[in-house]
Amino acid sequence: MSELTEVLTKDGSYSLRSKFFQENFHSSIGALEETKLKFTATSNLQRFKGKSLNVLDICFGLGYNSASLLNELIKQKSNLNLYALEIDKKPLEYSLRSESFQKLWAPKVKKIFASLYQKNYFKDQFFRCNVLWGDAREKINFIPSSIKFDLIYLDGFSPQKCPQLWTVEFLSKVTKTLNSQGYLITYSSSAAVRKTLRNLGLEIFTIKPSFNNRTFWSQGTVAISEFDKNKLKPNFNFENLSLMEEEHLLTKASIPYRDQDLKSSKDDILKKRLDEQLLSNLLSTNKWREKWGMTKLSLKS
Ligand SMILES: C[S@@+](CC[C@H](N)C(=O)[O-])C[C@H]1O[C@@H](n2cnc3c(N)ncnc32)[C@H](O)[C@@H]1O
Repeated sequence: MSELTEVLTKDGSYSLRSKFFQENFHSSIGALEETKLKFTATSNLQRFKGKSLNVLDICFGLGYNSASLLNELIKQKSNLNLYALEIDKKPLEYSLRSESFQKLWAPKVKKIFASLYQKNYFKDQFFRCNVLWGDAREKINFIPSSIKFDLIYLDGFSPQKCPQLWTVEFLSKVTKTLNSQGYLITYSSSAAVRKTLRNLGLEIFTIKPSFNNRTFWSQGTVAISEFDKNKLKPNFNFENLSLMEEEHLLTKASIPYRDQDLKSSKDDILKKRLDEQLLSNLLSTNKWREKWGMTKLSLKS
């Protein structure tokens, strides 16, 4: 699973490519930019200034999302209880060796990452961090049920490459750990993922495209279980779904990924979904694409 090659992204930050999953860890626009725009900015961390928060980072990888979070929380003196799930130790090993990665963050981040690598945890007066190595579908069961997360970062490979982490069954487990006001944040704007989150009772929002990247119509999805829409502020970088995005959820692309026993293989999950799509009377996704003048590029989710 671990054959990884280094990738230099357009903002000058380094990422990795997985041969096994046939996918890069980050978008070519920039690993750092992706983390900051999609995950950190969307988290509205100033809400937690001088307070405590619980965060779950699913697919820790190189640790960009956790590092950026820690970096901000160090500045604003918040207390953090972090859980990270990851199947492979190699990306963290790479981060610890990479000077250019370390230079992006406060020195304390390296100390925390080294401790996660050696001992699977870190603890001091502000931060308590744990990493659970293994398949996230299983390891999520080891998180104490009393913990409800204020933020959940879901950063697996894309649903077509790693459907195991986007199924109704896994997302149902994940969303049960979300605090009622908490945000689940993902870069994915896949109709199947959005429809699943909505069917699980969450409100879903789109992460606005950034000014310097207009190719994509969305930067991802935020799901919240109890959100007063009147509290949506123009300075938030997420908003209600557009008509185009709502119509996406009426197409065959919205048919969910399923993994009844949470042990299915990638191929089984994909085949089951394809069979369901073939029998479905929902609108064809191509028709939707034509209506809204979509290109393949603008659909990466
Ligand atoms: C897109 S990368 C994550 C990028 C990461 N957030 C970062 O900052 O580098 C996806 C990660 O998911 C991990 N992964 C794949 N399948 C997994 C599984 N079943 N359980 C846990 N982690 C998994 C891979 O090892 C990889 O590190």
